[in-house]
Amino acid sequence: MELDRDLQQLGVAHRMDHRNNPVLIKCLEAVYVVYYALLYPFYYFWNKRDFSRQTKKNPFYVSKLVRLIEKHPLLYELSMYVLNFPHPTSVYRFFPPMEGKVLQVGCGTGLLNKWARHMGGAEFVNLDINERYLQYGLKKGRYQNTVHSGIYDVPLEDESFDIIVFARCFHHIRHHKKAFKECARLLKDGGQIWIADPVILQEEGSGKQMNAGYMANSSIDGVIWRFTKPAFVKHLADSLSESLRLVSITDVRQPHMTNYNLKYPQTDILAVIEKTADAPK
Ligand SMILES: C[S@@+](CC[C@H](N)C(=O)[O-])C[C@H]1O[C@@H](n2cnc3c(N)ncnc32)[C@H](O)[C@@H]1O
Repeated sequence: MELDRDLQQLGVAHRMDHRNNPVLIKCLEAVYVVYYALLYPFYYFWNKRDFSRQTKKNPFYVSKLVRLIEKHPLLYELSMYVLNFPHPTSVYRFFPPMEGKVLQVGCGTGLLNKWARHMGGAEFVNLDINERYLQYGLKKGRYQNTVHSGIYDVPLEDESFDIIVFARCFHHIRHHKKAFKECARLLKDGGQIWIADPVILQEEGSGKQMNAGYMANSSIDGVIWRFTKPAFVKHLADSLSESLRLVSITDVRQPHMTNYNLKYPQTDILAVIEKTADAPK
């Protein structure tokens, strides 16, 4: 496979996680057909139609649906449940054990904190650009602290983190080069960036643009990126700053059927990037 060869050349470990029962995945795909029939008309007539009209005027137009979800954290949690049915937190379960000081970028309402609360070992600093989500997480007792900021210019000290996590958040960041530059500043030497994000499984028929990363629709930062796996790896390699090196890619087919995309099946990927001590700062 071309991707395997490319990863080998880059010296990146490539793992496929086959823990999930294929029969379970097939059952969930069947449930998805019901979801699709129920949700797609709503998605199409309200959000997609509005989106295709407005983007002609402004490619970074923020859709009404996204704006509504950003305003109401409860709606965000509900949509996570639907899109990640039956386990909204299953995306976190393939994280390696977390230890040390962890910066959680785009922490949202704190679903990762809720999931990790019995684990100990990690001291979270929770950063998000949406203050409503931070307030909601605080109210629910999921956060000990919050930082209301975007990732490009974080008001925290150099070399203060062991791990920086982007859980389901990377595809919302518009300028990845800038984000990585800031991460390189915030990470200690030998520290790691973990990116857990959905990628599209089905390349054929899913539209030409999905073979390369492309930006669509909107988030608080104005974008949602869509990648296939090879496009994701290439995009990472093109965006990393000098002191950062991609060390592994793990592909985990989740036991949920859709994740973010109503039309094409997706899998989750965990990319681990390391800050090398000997690289220029
Ligand atoms: C899909 S949510 C993921 C939330 C959470 N990590 C989870 O797993 O439920 C993406 C989050 O990224 C945040 N976000 C988007 N762009 C950002 C940026 N430039 N800097 C920081 N956070 C950002 C959004 O406000 C949103 O809360």
